[in-house]
Amino acid sequence: MLRREPRSVVATEVVGPYTLLRVERGSIDPGRPGQFFMLEAPGRLLPRPMSLALAPPRELAFLIDPIGQGTRALCTLEAGDRIGVLGPLGNGFDLEVERPLLVGGGIGVAPLPYLSEQLGGPPAVLGFRTSWHAEAAELVPNAEVVLEPTYVTEAMHGGHDVLACGPEPMLEAVRRLTLHAQLAWEAPMACGYGACYGCAVEIDGELKRLCVEGPVLAAA
Ligand SMILES: Cc1cc2nc3c(=O)[nH]c(=O)nc-3n(C[C@H](O)[C@H](O)[C@H](O)COP(=O)(O)OP(=O)(O)OC[C@H]3O[C@@H](n4cnc5c(N)ncnc54)[C@H](O)[C@@H]3O)c2cc1C
Ligand code: FES
Repeated sequence: MLRREPRSVVATEVVGPYTLLRVERGSIDPGRPGQFFMLEAPGRLLPRPMSLALAPPRELAFLIDPIGQGTRALCTLEAGDRIGVLGPLGNGFDLEVERPLLVGGGIGVAPLPYLSEQLGGPPAVLGFRTSWHAEAAELVPNAEVVLEPTYVTEAMHGGHDVLACGPEPMLEAVRRLTLHAQLAWEAPMACGYGACYGCAVEIDGELKRLCVEGPVLAAA
C-alpha cells in the first residue's frame, strides 16, 4: 500500500533554468524509468507529479521546471526542508528493447537520465529552445543536442526503438514518424493514483486515466 512519506531535501542544484531537487530516499522504491512521484511542497494544497530523473545511492532526484506556483515552491526548497513524497506511480518505459534511442524535448528530458542509466547509455537526441535550457543535456550521456528552429524529429535516426518524453506536439511528431515508440505523456494530475479522474484523456474513443494507464503509452 503506497502512502505519502515525509522526506528531507538533501540538496538542490541549478541546471540551466531548471532545478535538480535531491531528496533522501529511505525505503522508497525508485521504480522504473518513466514512473512518477507526487511531490508535496510545504504550503501547497495539491502535490505535483514529477518523473524520477536520477536515483543516486540513498537519494531520489527530480529535475523541475519552475513554470507555476507549485513548481516554484519545489524549486525554492533548501537542504533540510521536509517534503511529502508519494510513489512510484503509473506505468514506466518497457526496457526490453533491442535498439533504444532516447528522444526528449525541453523539461521532457527529466526521466531520461535514469532511463539512460538503466539501458546502459544508449544514444539520445534532445531538443531545447536555447543553449541555457540545453544545459540539462549534461545529465544524459551520449546525447546529440539540437536547438530551435531545428526539431528533434529532424535529428532522429531510423531503425531504433524510440523512447520519448516531451511536449505534446513533439510526441505527436514522433508518433507520425514511428509507431514503434513508447511515449511519456502529461496531463494535470491531482491525486496520481486513479481516484480523481483529473488526468482522464480519450484514447481510441475510451476515457483513460493517464496516471494509471500511463504516463508511458505505446505510440501504436
Ligand atoms: C507524469 C508527469 C510527470 C511530470 N514530470 C515532470 C518533471 O519531471 N519535471 C517537471 O518540471 N514537470 C513535470 N511534470 C509537469 C509538472 O507536474 C507541472 O508542470 C506542474 O504540476 C505544474 O504545477 P505548477 O503549480 O507549477 O503550475 P500551475 O500553476 O499548476 O500551472 C502552470 C501552467 O502549466 C499548465 N500545466 C500544469 N500542469 C500541467 C501538465 N501536467 N501538463 C500540461 N500543462 C500543465 C497549467 O495549465 C498552466 O498553464 C510532469 C507531469 C506529469 C503528469
Ligand atoms: S490524477 Fe487522479 S485519476 Fe489520475
